[in-house]
Amino acid sequence: MKFSNDRYSRLAAWLHWIIAILVIVMIAMGIYMSDIPKGAPDRAFFFNLHKSIGLTTGLLVLVRVWWRHKNPPPSLPSDIPVWQVKVSRVSHAALYGCLVVMPAVGFAASQFTKYGVTYFGLFKIPPMGSNDPITRDMLQNIHHIVAELFIVLIVIHVLAALYHQFVRRDGLLSRMKL
Ligand code: HEM
Ligand code: HEM
Repeated sequence: MKFSNDRYSRLAAWLHWIIAILVIVMIAMGIYMSDIPKGAPDRAFFFNLHKSIGLTTGLLVLVRVWWRHKNPPPSLPSDIPVWQVKVSRVSHAALYGCLVVMPAVGFAASQFTKYGVTYFGLFKIPPMGSNDPITRDMLQNIHHIVAELFIVLIVIHVLAALYHQFVRRDGLLSRMKL
């Protein structure tokens, strides 16, 4: 199914905004919970919530990537400078990369702990690997570094959206309206 070429499809827009909110919540929660001392009662609660929302986000990202594959994005207005078109392509690809890598690596890291994932307290996904702190720490470092890259990309992305909205006033934001 293809939609009119001047805006993102409604499903793409819904997925964009739901995932954007989840990602912001996930980053804030990840930073907050990492500072909770080991053994404190709320640490397990936040870790499990982070893992559960993270896995859900990962599933939504898969739907989004599949939908994006089926529905190419609307072409950009022709008066946008070529370098900006290139930067937008690269940064969108990098955002997609982070969207895929963050949940995948987080989940992979949880496979090398004794905890696994208790999905919203409903059922447990037991770890597939053994309790291996070295592998877990390596994956967790990747999770940390990609999170930093992700934050930089999101800041640039939002600044670009604001630039289009308030400086160029080209209505680009309305291509993502629900
Ligand atoms: C916080 C997490 C966010 C992530 C991960 C994210 C990710 C993305 C990605 C990957 C695209 C490319 C879509 C595609 O071509 O398939 C996109 C497009 C877009 N995003 Fe975001 N976004 C986020 C937040 C925001 C925010 C807060 C705004 C507005 C202030 C915004 C405004 C837009 C707009 C207007 C487009 C469409 C650009 C165009 O027309 O080509 N995004 N976003
Ligand atoms: C969109 C998905 C995700 C985002 C944006 C995200 C983001 C973050 C951030 C920003 C941190 C703090 C990084 C640090 O200070 O080291 C973090 C930590 C963490 N994340 Fe995620 N995460 C996601 C998915 C997941 C998933 C799916 C899991 C596991 C199933 C997971 C498990 C963890 C754990 C266990 C930590 C704490 C590491 C520690 O302090 O030892 N994350 N996450």
